[in-house]
Amino acid sequence: MAKKLNIGLFGFGCVGQGLYHVLNNSKGFTANITKIAVKDKNKPRTLDKSIFTFDKYEILDNPEINVIVELIDDADEAFEIVKYAIRKGKHVVTANKKLVATHLKELQQLQEEHNVSLLYEASVCGSIPIIRTLEEYFDNEQLNKISGIFNGTTNYILTKTISEKLSYASALKQAQEKGFAESDPTSDVEGFDPKYKAIILALHSFGVFAKPEEVLNIGITTLDDNDIKYASEKGYKIKLVPTIRQNKNKISIFVLPKFIKQENPLYFVDNEFNGVIVEGEFSGEQFLKGKGAGGHPTGAAVLSDISALSYDYKYAFKKLKQSQANNITNDVFIKAYIRYNSVVDLQALETQHIFEQYKGESYNYVVALVNVKSLLKQKDYILKNRLFVSEVGDENEAAKQGLDESVFESVNLEY
Ligand code: HSE
Repeated sequence: MAKKLNIGLFGFGCVGQGLYHVLNNSKGFTANITKIAVKDKNKPRTLDKSIFTFDKYEILDNPEINVIVELIDDADEAFEIVKYAIRKGKHVVTANKKLVATHLKELQQLQEEHNVSLLYEASVCGSIPIIRTLEEYFDNEQLNKISGIFNGTTNYILTKTISEKLSYASALKQAQEKGFAESDPTSDVEGFDPKYKAIILALHSFGVFAKPEEVLNIGITTLDDNDIKYASEKGYKIKLVPTIRQNKNKISIFVLPKFIKQENPLYFVDNEFNGVIVEGEFSGEQFLKGKGAGGHPTGAAVLSDISALSYDYKYAFKKLKQSQANNITNDVFIKAYIRYNSVVDLQALETQHIFEQYKGESYNYVVALVNVKSLLKQKDYILKNRLFVSEVGDENEAAKQGLDESVFESVNLEY
């Protein structure tokens, strides 16, 4: 029998309100939001003030409340709340990807130690049920690669600026107004947000704990008109794509813009939609698409986690238990388009094997092999000098062309 859930909610912003609405409009499932903790005493609220509290302990120390739903912005404060709640034996549902990715190991261990459930489906790709799909469906199959579009804001900006010719500033403003962007949108546009999501999926798909500082994230901030023109002349769309891939028991994780051709299902994922491609050893390629941001889609994912708690659902972390010393490596090559200023830039990035090159008066690019390790090392240099680096995908054969087998093997090419 489903057990009674008394929820203490932290945060009543876009997702909190979305959850409240979704919960009140779902038939056949009841869970009661007993109290909502908020910070701002002066903000007008849409609910009666008796439901709100400004004292987190009124929720955390209330023995009647058995579920904490954490939907606040501040990852450090959220960490304190979540730790306290778990130690008190309460189950926790959160949508906070920064919190989860930054403290993944500690939180995983803490929930085991206290025998409670910590669920965070809403933290990755909004309404797409990717974590539970990995946990429940792909729990015993070896996966080779997970990639996709994990950030609604950048996808919205790329769609609106490239296809609809809106300015970057207007597109970002719209993404903020629609509740897609983080309160500090740097996390979106510089690719931190999708990196946190990739780190979370890396645990559920490959059983590894990656630290944010060891994962490359380059966002869309240095994209310019030359890059857009190059991409559209070649028939590409530009997407911000996280990749988690295993090769010979080594896992590589990185977030980079990627030129995508029509054959790739991500080509048709626009606006705030997200998409995830799961490549299994035996099942082949699977593709999931859904709304990646916004109050209602994310609220629906939170609701699904709350509902799962009513039948005592817990992540089994099977991949973690099965993993045979999977190491994380950045020593992989990708084929990339690199817009650069002078040859010094190419030396700094240690590019190898140039496939294509153009030198003009005000614009230079190469399509070459580059090591993810070099990109990570030179990330500040790339941003400071406003170089643009984009993975060039969908052309497995072309990626190999011109590389004899030994070079191809020796560079451990990501393709
Ligand atoms: N800012 C995030 C995005 C929200 O744009 O995808 C959902 O995690």
